[in-house]
Amino acid sequence: MDRYELWADEMIGKIRGKMEWVSEKNKDKIPYTTGQDGSYDDRSDKTVDWNLDDGLNWWTNGFWGGLMWLLYQDTGLERYAEIARGAEYKLEQCLTDYYGLHHDVGFMYVLTAVTDYRLTGNERSRRTAMHAANLLAGRFNPAGNFIRAWNDGAQDQRGWAIIDCLMNLSLLYWASEESRDPRFRHIAMRHADTALRCFVRPDGSVRHIVEFDPESGEMVKSYGGQGYADGSSWSRGQGWAVYGFTISYLHTGRQEYLDAAKRVAHYCIASLPESGIVPSDFRQPESPALEDSCGACVIAGGLLELAKAVPECERELYRRAAFRILRTIGETRSDWSRGCDAIVQNCTAAYHDGIRHGTMSYADYYFAEAVYKLKGQGTFLW
Ligand code: GLY
Repeated sequence: MDRYELWADEMIGKIRGKMEWVSEKNKDKIPYTTGQDGSYDDRSDKTVDWNLDDGLNWWTNGFWGGLMWLLYQDTGLERYAEIARGAEYKLEQCLTDYYGLHHDVGFMYVLTAVTDYRLTGNERSRRTAMHAANLLAGRFNPAGNFIRAWNDGAQDQRGWAIIDCLMNLSLLYWASEESRDPRFRHIAMRHADTALRCFVRPDGSVRHIVEFDPESGEMVKSYGGQGYADGSSWSRGQGWAVYGFTISYLHTGRQEYLDAAKRVAHYCIASLPESGIVPSDFRQPESPALEDSCGACVIAGGLLELAKAVPECERELYRRAAFRILRTIGETRSDWSRGCDAIVQNCTAAYHDGIRHGTMSYADYYFAEAVYKLKGQGTFLW
């Protein structure tokens, strides 16, 4: 084992120890974040009055199941598969209800239904995943070649696309590979081409939100979104781009996607502070010094996947940077005690609003996924 694998091995032991009781305590929930008492909330709780795209439709609702599948792959314990499947079957209701669903059906169903089908051949999961893929394909706007992100809130968002959506494309690639129908892949590639053209700046940083005219397809403007401001560089968005372009490369073999992933990766590595602590936005002011451990784990996961896609002589650059990030998270930004259900701490939802330095179940997912990657363990789920 090299030094990265040795460290990952030690972390895997800690992840197993923590998840053993956390999974038992929260087995009937779909958690997002922890409250004051350190216990997870439950985004599948129908008695709670969430907003429209909240509740069961909440975009992170696939990560709990995904985390359980990671543990299942690692330990072989059937109880993890049962918990994952419990969450997956709850999410079927969103497809039936339809309203409130958004482009994040990729995040929601890749880590639940697609993964269940891949690992166990469950036919019910295949149907759910194909249904979700068709809904995602239906959000594609051929004028502008982009997948519409959210539904209208206070603003007309018919022309909005966001960098995060690169991760949702996995669902479309899977649907094409599974059905041998190329339509899904064509849509995914057109969206990825648009992201490459309109989101990635020459220096390798990326925009969060781009608005297109939904009738003509012309690019109208960009927004800072969850970052500090328009023109800044929201760190989690950089992570979605590194990881997302790598995914598009892996499914299509197109060199432009690999080059884009590298360009954004080099920007992230050059922006990474010596401490390994990832700020909420790489261009935020000195104060407040907001961190985003979740964005950090996404970047690390993307770098490790990218490392596998490049020739041996290029790998060390990406692995070393990912290790610096993960070691900082595992050793200084994690709670391994029984006082908090979540492992990863200091996650920030957005620079200007939402959770600040709190916990998010998807940070734990990406941390665990990256640690398993570092060890060379686990199937590629995206
Ligand atoms: N996809 C939304 C986020 O990263 O917060």
